[in-house]
Order: sequence, then structure tokens, then C-alpha cells
Amino acid sequence: MNIFIKDAGKHVGAEVTVRGWMFNKRSSGKIHFLEMRDGTGTIQGIVFVPNVLAEVAEKAAKLTIESSAALTGVISKHPKLIDTYELQVKDIHIYNLAPDDYPIAKKEHGPDFLLEHRHLWLRSAKQAAVQRVRNTIINATYEYLNQNGFIKIDSPILTPLACEGTTELFEIKYFEEGKAYLTQSGQLYLEAAIASVGRCFDFGPVFRAEKSKTRRHLTEFWMMDAEAAFVEYDENLKIQEELICYIITACLKANEADFKILERNTEPLAKITPPFYRKTYAEVVKELREMGSDITEEIDLGGDDETKLSEKYDKPIFVEKYPAKIKALYMKRDPADKSRALCADLIAPEGYGEIIGSSQREDDYETLLKRIQEHKLPEDAFKWYLDLRKYGSVPHSGFGYGLERLVTWICGLHHVRESIPFPRTLNRIYP
Ligand code: 4AD
Ligand code: MG
Repeated sequence: MNIFIKDAGKHVGAEVTVRGWMFNKRSSGKIHFLEMRDGTGTIQGIVFVPNVLAEVAEKAAKLTIESSAALTGVISKHPKLIDTYELQVKDIHIYNLAPDDYPIAKKEHGPDFLLEHRHLWLRSAKQAAVQRVRNTIINATYEYLNQNGFIKIDSPILTPLACEGTTELFEIKYFEEGKAYLTQSGQLYLEAAIASVGRCFDFGPVFRAEKSKTRRHLTEFWMMDAEAAFVEYDENLKIQEELICYIITACLKANEADFKILERNTEPLAKITPPFYRKTYAEVVKELREMGSDITEEIDLGGDDETKLSEKYDKPIFVEKYPAKIKALYMKRDPADKSRALCADLIAPEGYGEIIGSSQREDDYETLLKRIQEHKLPEDAFKWYLDLRKYGSVPHSGFGYGLERLVTWICGLHHVRESIPFPRTLNRIYP
């Protein structure tokens, strides 16, 4: 009977087959210890040479690191370790005998080497743990949003217009239409969908052509945009707080073993509860200048500023009400100070920086039209978006998180490139 390694404990005393890859092997005298992983767990197969057929002993001797094989035998409890099982091997089937030169050795490799071998690096214990945490974050997001009335609406990837700013676009040829762009965020399309379904979200790849070479930037990453009708500024922040706490709780519950593999101290995560800190952009600029930053009110927070700020606090911080002129045109202005946008960026603690961008949206036709003209953007391309302010406009808000930023923070990684299976950065598109 074929079983998954995670279920070994249910089959103690029974003869079963596990199928997977050899990640380690030791041989001493008459015994071979074959360590196998199958994606659900790891198990040690023990081949005691005098007890098996000569051809099985030969196969055990021959097996190399990263060969794929099926081991058949009886499951036993580990003599010392609790919750650990072993396989007393009787038979071996080799699917593929790998050459004895697996490029990723046990020694330390530099990041360039590992990225060049990402297709193989992905198999290592830490990298698999990161992917499992990522999976929990994705599922928890769907769960929380579905439970709170958001339905999934898929937004297009090929778009005729820029959403976040024209300098960050990947341009492609599009038949007779001429140009199209890879989307930067599905937000504008979700704004259309709320008049159909009330609350919705998308979750898919987005693309940024900005030439940023930092530990927080990818050119292709996964964004979750959520949008809700009749939700105004404060309620929008509350939804974000709840979602982030829901995700963290889910990870702490589902990924304990992965956090151990990653050597992630989960105490700082366990402490995160609502409400998060709230500080205006003006307050933050003052605070950062006192900490030695040369930031002024004219610019967005730089990478170092985000790091400084997020090292100082033990919970995520909403940086609110940026100067409207440095933010996207769709943001509603603060009625108390028209030079400010009703927006908030959520900054994760422990030095991780921005994880969410959010705002209440401009819902007035004339105001939005004027703004599109001021930005010298093509009115034609925005015609449909303006229509939304003509036919049943309502106050509405939304936010978007970068999945890789969340994975990086929750896993305690240094660089965002380890959080996605195949990272695309300024100078890498292989493998
Ligand atoms: O702050 P951003 O640009 O916001 C938007 O795109 C809005 N339209 C979202 C919305 O309101 N629906 O991007 C949202 C998040 C950031 O907070 C960050 O976590 C992540 O996306 N992000 C990146 N992640 C990796 N690499 C990059 N180059 C990223 N740029 C943004
Ligand atoms: Mg942002």
C-alpha cells in the first residue's frame, strides 16, 4: 500500500510503500540509512543487509542523493524520538538514479549560485517550509474574505491603462490596438465589480517595471486586492487589521513545524493583536528625521525609512494621510485637509516594511475627471472608470497586499526573493 510519509504513525507494524527523493544517506557496515522526503514529511529507511535480497542491498548501496525511489517495508516507532517513525526496508524500486554530483551540497552557497539553481534549491527543507507557509497565508486570506462577504472576482492581467503610475509598466504589443500593459494591480476593475457584488477581491500576479534593486522588490509578484462598497476610511483599516491577525493565527496553528525548520522565533508574531498603531505621515516624517533620516514631506518613505520605522514598533503601523501629490490619483482627499489623501500604508514590524497599500477612493465624477486631466492621462482610457462615478457611485475603499512581503515577514526571511517559487527581479528571469 502506498502511503504519504506524514501518515506513517497510522501504519505502525504494517507493510507499506513510501515514494520520494533521497535527501541523505549514511552507510555503516551492514546497514544503510536512507533518508527520504515525499513533500509531506521525511522518514528514515533502514536497510539491514543480511535481512534483504542481494539485489535490494545492491540498490541501497547504489542510491545517490536526490535519486527518486519507492521503499517498501514495515513501519516501526523510533526507539528514542517521540512522533518519529522508521521504515524497515524489504524492497526498493529506483525510479531515477541521479548522478552523484548534486549541485547543492550541504555546505553554504552564495545567493547567486542558489538562485541560478532555484529549480533544485526549491527542494531544500527551508524552501519547502516557506512554500507551505505561503500556502497557509493564501488559504487564510480566502477564508477570512469569504467569511466577511468578499467574493473572488478575477481582474485582467492585460490592461489598456496604468493604475499605479506610468513609469512602472511592462509594455507589450497588442495587435491592431497597439500597446497594452501588464497589470500593476486589479484595483480599478474591482471598483467596477463592487456595484455588482458589493465586496470582492482578486488574487493574482502583478507586474512592476520599476528598476528597484532592493530586498523588498520583485518585478512579478502576487497581489491580493480587496474592495468594498459603503466602506469608508476607518472601517477599511479595521478589515486590514482583522485579516492580518487572521492570517498570523492560521500560520501559527498550521506551520509550527515549518517555523522550527526556518528557525523563526514566533513570539513577536504571537503578540500581534488589534488595534495596530496609527500615525500620520507628518508624524512619521518628524519621527524619522529625529532618528537621522533626511526624508522630507515631498517624498514617499524610502526603504531605509521603512526599516527604521518598522524596527521601532512591535506591531504593524498604519502610516496615514500622505500628501496627495505623492500618491495615486484614485485616492479620495481628506476633507479636513485637502492636501492629504485618505490613505494608509501598513508597515510590518521587525524591519520588514510596507505590506499593504490602501485608501478610500475618489467617488465624485468631476473631481476624478479633473485629476485625470491634471495628470495629463488619456481620458479615453479612463472612460469606463469615470462611468463608475456616473452610474450609482458610492463611498468605497480597498487595499492591496503583496503576498511575498507577507511571506517574507511571517517566515522571518531576509530577502523577498525566497518567498516566491521562481523570483523575477531586475536582473534575473532564469530559471
Ligand atoms: O502599494 P501598492 O502599489 O498598492 C496598489 O497597487 C493598490 N492598487 C492596492 C489596492 O489598493 N488595491 O502595492 C500593494 C502592495 C504593497 O504594499 C507591497 O506589499 C506590494 O504590493 N508590492 C510589492 N511587492 C513586491 N515587489 C514589488 N515591486 C512590490 N510593489 C508593491
Ligand atoms: Mg505602496
